Amino acid sequence: MAVDLLLGLQWGDEGKGKIVDVLTANYDIIARFQGGPNAGHTLEFDGIKHVLHTIPSGIFHDNAVNIVGNGVVIDPVIFKKELDNLEKFNIDIKSKLLISRKAHLILPTHRLLDAASEAAKGKAKIGSTLKGIGPTYMDKTGRNGIRVGDTELANWKEKYRALANKHEAMINFYNVDVQYDLAELEEEFFEAVKVLKSLTFIDSEEYLHQAQKSGKSILAEGAQGSLLDIDFGTYPFVTSSNTTAAGACTGLGVPPNKIKDVFGIFKAYTTRVGSGPFPTELFDKDGETMGRVGNEFGATTGRKRRCGWLDLVALKYAVQVNGVTQLMMMKGDVLSGFKTLKVCTAYEYKGETIQHLPFNIEEENVKPIYSELPGWDEDLTGMTEAEQLPQNLIKYIEFLEEALEVPIKIVSVGPDRTQTIHR
Ligand code: GDP
Ligand code: IMO
Ligand code: MG
Repeated sequence: MAVDLLLGLQWGDEGKGKIVDVLTANYDIIARFQGGPNAGHTLEFDGIKHVLHTIPSGIFHDNAVNIVGNGVVIDPVIFKKELDNLEKFNIDIKSKLLISRKAHLILPTHRLLDAASEAAKGKAKIGSTLKGIGPTYMDKTGRNGIRVGDTELANWKEKYRALANKHEAMINFYNVDVQYDLAELEEEFFEAVKVLKSLTFIDSEEYLHQAQKSGKSILAEGAQGSLLDIDFGTYPFVTSSNTTAAGACTGLGVPPNKIKDVFGIFKAYTTRVGSGPFPTELFDKDGETMGRVGNEFGATTGRKRRCGWLDLVALKYAVQVNGVTQLMMMKGDVLSGFKTLKVCTAYEYKGETIQHLPFNIEEENVKPIYSELPGWDEDLTGMTEAEQLPQNLIKYIEFLEEALEVPIKIVSVGPDRTQTIHR
């Protein structure tokens, strides 16, 4: 049985959580493959909104097992809070949520290091979520990290101490004002590790291999978005993992020839939270309207998201890098009421018109060139069938499909599970 992937194609927050929840009915296994609690995946049903950070978005369905893969970094403290939030839903966590022994742990000092690194950068800061993501992946690739499976070993606390001591020296090196009480943080951390250890640890690559052999269907859930990918994103204003399709292979141990569909999710416009270039960013009333109607505030940090028109140059790049086979367009409802919609179809770059993403997309290098399309006034949020969609929205969709050369199979018209139109 093949593995399908679901990935964000922009700068994150495209609506991955919602769509994974919608698609989970079709899968036996949902597996997160990278990122950590920098992610905030929102899903809504029965009038309740849920935000997940580490736990895969299939957790509310009885039919699926959820796996936190080896490519994920786990903060036991945040993880425990997520579990606490799930308590009232009577989910059998021990059998429904399995954790890879090879996933790395975020230590309290990783979070402090993140804060120190950002403070030292001053104006050039990445705008990190300050969840310790960068420092944890640095320790992973530096071969110093502590993995979930290590906590089953007798000497793991010695390993912890050595690493935390090193981190403290590094924090001092930054010479910035980061206040903390490590003893208190450690107490909370070790309590949370106990909770983590009460869950089921697995060798997830083996589990997934056997699951495929026995005909089980698997959906891999991405975090962040392609433009935040460590290799292909707007470096250095990116996250520290491969958010693109290849990340699912390394983050789960799934071979490339087992991957079938790659679902690419994008918003009908663009948002970004944190620093970094954003060619189609709006600073006017239109941007303000998108932010207000779309309720564009980060699910993890509550920060205001920057808003702008859809950037087809960047989207095409993401479609290419991921090998997207089906597209899903989110938040079309937010664009209702705009008289004219703009879509960036090319950049003016060093006096030339280009249609690919150049090395540097800083504001001073790149000027977006827009096509204009007529908007629609209809409220989409109550619509359930493709036939109900307004003509001008269909034109918008067809314009994008032609440019991206991939069909848009789902149009999302609101945050709820039911506000999902299949085409
Ligand atoms: P993720 O990180 O990709 O899972 O996305 P987030 O959960 O961070 O952000 C997406 C936000 O948009 C959430 O608040 C969702 O509830 C909401 N959302 C998802 N799809 C739609 C949609 O089609 N319309 C509207 N208005 N909101 C949506
Ligand atoms: P989901 O999965 C949006 C952004 C941060 C910052 C940069 C680096 O909900 O789409 P990090 O904490 O990783 O060091 O931050 O990446 N970022 C996200 N933006 N959605 C996310 O996740 C993000 N995860 C990280 O804002 O600019
Ligand atoms: Mg999010």
